[in-house]
Amino acid sequence: MWIEEVRLVNFRNYSQLIFSPSPRISLLYGHNGAGKTNLLESIVYCTTGRSPRGVSEDAMLRKGTDFFKVTLRYRTDPGGSARSQAVSYMVQVGRRAQYNGKSVALHALVGQLPVVYFCPDDLWLIKTGPGARRALLDRLITQLEPLYADALARYRRALLQRNAVLHGIRSGSRQPAALAIWDAQLVHYGAEIMRRRQAVVGRLTVAAQEVFARISVGENQLGLQYQAGLRENTSTSEDCNWSACLERALAEGITTDVRQGATGAGPHRDDVVIRMNHQLAKTYASQGQQRIACLAIRLAERDLFRQEVGYLPVLLLDDVLSELDLMHRRRLETILAEEGQVFLTSTESSMSRTEDPSIHQFEVAADRIDRQTYVPSPM
Ligand SMILES: Nc1ncnc2c1ncn2[C@@H]1O[C@H](COP(=O)(O)OP(=O)(O)O)[C@@H](O)[C@H]1O
Ligand SMILES: [Mg+2]
Repeated sequence: MWIEEVRLVNFRNYSQLIFSPSPRISLLYGHNGAGKTNLLESIVYCTTGRSPRGVSEDAMLRKGTDFFKVTLRYRTDPGGSARSQAVSYMVQVGRRAQYNGKSVALHALVGQLPVVYFCPDDLWLIKTGPGARRALLDRLITQLEPLYADALARYRRALLQRNAVLHGIRSGSRQPAALAIWDAQLVHYGAEIMRRRQAVVGRLTVAAQEVFARISVGENQLGLQYQAGLRENTSTSEDCNWSACLERALAEGITTDVRQGATGAGPHRDDVVIRMNHQLAKTYASQGQQRIACLAIRLAERDLFRQEVGYLPVLLLDDVLSELDLMHRRRLETILAEEGQVFLTSTESSMSRTEDPSIHQFEVAADRIDRQTYVPSPM
C-alpha cells in the first residue's frame, strides 16, 4: 500500500500543493517551520479524521481562508487500480469526505489507508496515564476487527448508564436492583474487550521485542504486559474467564462504586505496563531509551497489521532521525530500507544511504516541496 499523490488546498501553510512521494522512502527536509509536520498531519487527518496534534479543523485552515481540502491517491498493489480519498472542511458547513470521488461518511474512510505516525513527543505512550495506551490497543484492534468498535461503543454507553444509576442510588432516587441490566451489559461487552486487548498485547509484545532488539544498542530488554482494570487482589491469567472476573469485581466493588458514583472495575481502567529490563520504563529508562521503546512499539503496530491484513501501513516518522545517535539511526534506516512506504522528516538533508534509489529526497520550503536529485560526489 502506498500513497502516489498528496494534494492540499489551503491546508496550514500550503495554499496549493501537489506532492508525489516515493513509493518507498521519502526524506523531507527543511528548516524549522518549513511545513514538514503539516504535510504529515494532512495525511494523518485524511486517513483517521483527526489531527495527530489533537487540534480542531480551524487550526488547520490556512490563515485568512474558510475552506481546506486534503486528497490522497494511493494503491494497494502494483496491478490494482488507484483509489482516492479526500476530506474537506468549510467554516460553518463542517467536514465532508469522499471515497473515489463519491461522498461518504467520514468514518467510512477510517482504516481504508492505514498509517502509523510517530513523533518524538510520542513519549506520552510511556510517560502519561493509561488512556494513551488503551487508545493504542483500541486503534489497533479496530483496524484488525471492525466489529470491536461496536463492542466499545456499547460498553461505553452501558458504563454511562450504570454510573447514572450509581448516582441515583446515592441520592436515594434509585434502587440497587436497577444496576442489574447495566451490569449484565458491562460484563458482556467488557469481557469481550478485555479478551481482545489481552490477546493483542501478547502479539504486540512479541513484535515490539523483536524490533526493539534490532534497533537498540546493548542488552536492553523491552516488556509489555496487559493489566486488566480489575481490583488489585483479582488474579488474572492467560486463559482468564473475563466475564467471571468482571462480574465478581463489580459485585465486590458495589459499596465503593455507590459512594463514588463511578464504576471502579472494567476495561475503562485497563493499562499496559511497559518495562525495560524488568523495571518500569517510565521511571527507569532514559529519555533516549524511552524514545526507542515507543518507536519499537509503533513499528510493531505496523508489523502486526501486516501479519493480519497482508500489507504494511504507511509509516510517517516526524523528526525521528535527528533525535537518534548515529548508531541507532543506522539501525533504524536498515529496518526502514527493507519494505513499505515511509515518510521521514528531518532538518538535515541526508540519510546514511543517500545512494539508495528507493530514497527520494525533497526540500520543503515556502509552500513547496521539491524533489532533489542525488548526484554522487566524485571520488
Ligand atoms: N493555519 C495555518 N495557516 C498558515 N500557516 C500555518 C498554519 N498553521 C501553522 N502554520 C505555519 O506552519 C509552520 C509550521 O509548520 P510545521 O509543519 O510545523 O514545520 P516543520 O517543518 O518544522 O515541521 C509555521 O511556520 C506556521 O506559521
Ligand atoms: Mg515539525
